[in-house]
Amino acid sequence: MTNRDNKIIALASDHAGYPLKEALIKYLNSRGIDTIDCGTSSTESCDYPDFAVSGCCKVLDGEADLTILCCGTGIGMSMAANKLRGIRAACCSDVFSAKYTRLHNNANVLCLGARVVGEGLAAELVDAFIDTGFEGGKHQRRVDMITALEK
Ligand code: RB5
Repeated sequence: MTNRDNKIIALASDHAGYPLKEALIKYLNSRGIDTIDCGTSSTESCDYPDFAVSGCCKVLDGEADLTILCCGTGIGMSMAANKLRGIRAACCSDVFSAKYTRLHNNANVLCLGARVVGEGLAAELVDAFIDTGFEGGKHQRRVDMITALEK
């Protein structure tokens, strides 16, 4: 996380996740949180790995604090995102996991399935994810072990 006063959240989706991404941008902005929209920009069919990369680049470059990726299941996005060095992406559909993947895994990307969760639950997942910080301590050692697997 950077030292900015306000969090900046990058969002990206494929066609299946597009309506949820749009809803979450509105939701985050209504909370006073700035967003970066990394596409896609319609429900026209597209390939989720392209948008996993564009969304994750923002957090890797330090332009955003966290990234949210939406596709049909959230799974394809998480598989693609976790191929990128420095990304720890979690696909969540329950609030407990969305909170603990920040506390324990220092996840920097939340993946959501637009065909799995509704907009109301997605907003709660996003709240839990962005409002929770990393606990550090013994969890830092384990996150470092994940990072070591990238080499
Ligand atoms: C698109 O039909 C769908 O496969 C994609 O959004 C995602 O669910 C893949 O994991």
